[in-house]
Amino acid sequence: MTTRYSEVLENLRAQPKRWLVTGCAGFIGSNLVETLLEHGQTVVGLDNFATGHQRNLDEVKQNVGPEAWVRFSFIEGDIRNLDACHQAVQGADYVLHQAALGSVPRSLNDPITSNEVNVSGFLNMLVAARDAQVKSFVYAASSSTYGDHEALPKVEDRIGRPLSPYAVTKYVNELYADVFARSYGFNTIGLRYFNVFGRRQDPNGAYAAVIPKWVAAMIKNQDVTINGDGETSRDFCFIENVIQANILSATATGDAVNQVYNVAFNARTSLNQLFGYLANTLSENGIQYAKSPVYGNFRAGDVRHSQADIGKAQRLLGYAPAYDIVNGLKKAMPWYVQFLG
Ligand SMILES: NC(=O)c1ccc[n+]([C@@H]2O[C@H](COP(=O)([O-])OP(=O)(O)OC[C@H]3O[C@@H](n4cnc5c(N)ncnc54)[C@H](O)[C@@H]3O)[C@@H](O)[C@H]2O)c1
Repeated sequence: MTTRYSEVLENLRAQPKRWLVTGCAGFIGSNLVETLLEHGQTVVGLDNFATGHQRNLDEVKQNVGPEAWVRFSFIEGDIRNLDACHQAVQGADYVLHQAALGSVPRSLNDPITSNEVNVSGFLNMLVAARDAQVKSFVYAASSSTYGDHEALPKVEDRIGRPLSPYAVTKYVNELYADVFARSYGFNTIGLRYFNVFGRRQDPNGAYAAVIPKWVAAMIKNQDVTINGDGETSRDFCFIENVIQANILSATATGDAVNQVYNVAFNARTSLNQLFGYLANTLSENGIQYAKSPVYGNFRAGDVRHSQADIGKAQRLLGYAPAYDIVNGLKKAMPWYVQFLG
């Protein structure tokens, strides 16, 4: 079936472009780099290894092979440094800006650094991209922008008050992008990611995301702790859907530009359900996890339920997410088993 995504990929292969991916050593960034290289693109990556890893880039190199890897160049640099941003964006057609300090609890513990990276660093990247006259600037926004707005599913133009410093930073990104679009005639698209998961998402550290953290614990037969009663729910989004949304956004035109979009699957999975899906998928991969989860305290700053309306991205971008949570977990599990054990 021909979709807008398959057409865009075909056009890009026929006429390759130059892309800047910031945060390229991280989870989402390294997956974007891999797909772009696989489709014949030239990619510059910028990262300071704050939360990303050289091993992610090594894995991309391994996966794409030497012929594609020569089209990648890496700049180790910090988006808080405007010169590094200017250098990285030189000659780029498209920017996929992923570099930021993620995690609600991290921002509660250290709001100043989250603000410096996510707001000042973001502004540096906007200025550098504007000066370099890139065709479009796509950036990682966040579902946390919905804050305390309780209505479900979440629709882009109805948001509440932010529940964490992280959420403030991501909302400020949207405000700046909007002002740059109107003031400088500059094309931006913000993608409000909802709980992304997939290979290379970091399972370690205090700020790890739930899926790699739980899978790593389950593979090692350790306890899994659920924050709260397990009925907290999320719209988990597999990385392949996120890659699709980025590539569709970068190449979007007309009314689709200068917008923010939800990037999710439009399903709601409770933490209790997630625990069951993970145990089942592990079992399909030969690992039996027989322990029950341990229930802990609710986590500060977390929203209770989250589910995205993805109609806007479907209509304006041609977004057609190909993986639901179960199929995404099936695809990711062999990687988890190989690398998280
Ligand atoms: N993973 C999710 O579920 C999710 C949800 C909503 C939004 N996001 C956003 O998506 C983006 C990517 O997230 P991720 O999950 O891949 O996280 P990640 O931590 O794996 O990747 C972020 C990358 O940015 C780099 N980085 C951080 N500070 C930097 C700086 N000052 N200069 C240069 N590079 C820097 C890190 O080293 C890392 O490689 C972030 O903007 C995040 O806020 C992610």
